[in-house]
Amino acid sequence: MKNTNEVKTVKESAVEMRNLVMPNHTNPQNSIFGGVVMSWIDMAAAMVAERHSNRPVVTVHVDDISFKAPIKIGDHVLIAASLNYVGTSSMLVGVKVYAENPFTGITRHTTTAYLVFVALDDIGKPLQVRGVLPESADEIRRFEEGRIRIEDMKKKKAKK
Ligand SMILES: CC(C)(COP(=O)(O)OP(=O)(O)OC[C@H]1O[C@@H](n2cnc3c(N)ncnc32)[C@H](O)[C@@H]1OP(=O)(O)O)[C@@H](O)C(=O)NCCC(=O)NCCS
Repeated sequence: MKNTNEVKTVKESAVEMRNLVMPNHTNPQNSIFGGVVMSWIDMAAAMVAERHSNRPVVTVHVDDISFKAPIKIGDHVLIAASLNYVGTSSMLVGVKVYAENPFTGITRHTTTAYLVFVALDDIGKPLQVRGVLPESADEIRRFEEGRIRIEDMKKKKAKK
């Protein structure tokens, strides 16, 4: 089942989310609990996949999350998510997380993650999605890297 042949640009589905780190998000060290960041990443990335496909989507794989620097209580967390690559029913979304201290304005890149979503038809089966048109040099580079990343994931999955 196919929804449309129409191609969308990366910008048409990109999402930026901003959250303030509150006490209920933190661990005993007053830095953010990793599971909170992961849920924000999943949510922003899912919105990208939904905006691109205009369909309900599910997460099938999360690749390569690492936390490079702590995010502290009171920081603003900016999550920038955009479509990197599209397979048949799958969409690879790249997410970058930044922590901004609102009082100094200092912003740090804390996390990068890659997630794969599948668009579903009305009976919950994978549905072919439209293609993506990368425009900028960064978008074209991410598309090429995304193709390789998806091929590697498929090889790893086949070995399991
Ligand atoms: C989504 C789902 C219906 C797909 O079923 P499936 O039998 O895996 O379907 P397919 O094998 O045809 O795979 C569909 C696509 O997903 C990709 N895919 C599936 N598993 C993957 C994985 N672990 N890593 C990367 N890509 C994966 C396939 O490569 C394929 O991509 P393509 O259509 O672009 O070629 C099924 O995997 C599912 O329901 N998963 C649970 C999803 C969920 O509940 N997520 C929330 C978890 S918290």
